[in-house]
Amino acid sequence: LNFSYFANKLLQWYPQNKRNLPWRDTQNPYIIWLSEIILQQTRVAQGLPYFEKFLKEYPSVQDLAQAPMDEVMRLWQGLGYYSRARNLHQCAKEVTENFEGYFPDNYKDLLQLKGVGSYTAAAIASFAFKERVAVLDGNVFRVLSRYFGLGTDISSTQGKKEFEKLANQIIPENEPDQYNQAIMEFGALQCSPKNPDCSICPLQKGCFAHKHHLIDQLPYKAKK
Ligand code: ADE
Ligand code: SF4
Repeated sequence: LNFSYFANKLLQWYPQNKRNLPWRDTQNPYIIWLSEIILQQTRVAQGLPYFEKFLKEYPSVQDLAQAPMDEVMRLWQGLGYYSRARNLHQCAKEVTENFEGYFPDNYKDLLQLKGVGSYTAAAIASFAFKERVAVLDGNVFRVLSRYFGLGTDISSTQGKKEFEKLANQIIPENEPDQYNQAIMEFGALQCSPKNPDCSICPLQKGCFAHKHHLIDQLPYKAKK
């Protein structure tokens, strides 16, 4: 499999097609963490005003740690999944009290933080610290399953393991951060869930799902 061809196409596509989003202009782990927690289970358009509001109110992780919980909950009002807000506050306290206000600088240590799972740890490690570790979200599962024809159930443990392994083989040494942003953005804008426009896709040549007319079947997710 030609992983560098795939990665290079995405790296080429990204700067020409990406949305300008405020958390992409920074390597500050606090800002990246804040954006990723807000954007879990939330669309960019809905999350953006909350991101701006939180960053204005709490410019640093210490500011957030010192804020009263009821104030944080009030600012979170409307976003849903309120455990995220509790974890957000808890994590800010951990970083302030146990790490002198500095987020851990690698995937493994980031995973220990409250509310930080494998996706968020990979996002912070790669975007802020350029660690070569692949992010896996719904967009990434879709692009990988379609292009490489990986049909394992994405809701199964086995499936997650296979996708993670593939993703970490593909991610290039050079610009792993840009590559991660690129594949997520590509899934969001080009290889969309319904009716992607394959006729303008830079990955059409070599795409398994396109070749075998399986776009509507991939990624495969077993019904619960
Ligand atoms: N959704 C979750 N994380 C994102 C990111 N970094 N950029 C755009 N959309 C996202
Ligand atoms: Fe996705 Fe179509 Fe491109 Fe394949 S050719 S990666 S299915 S948009």
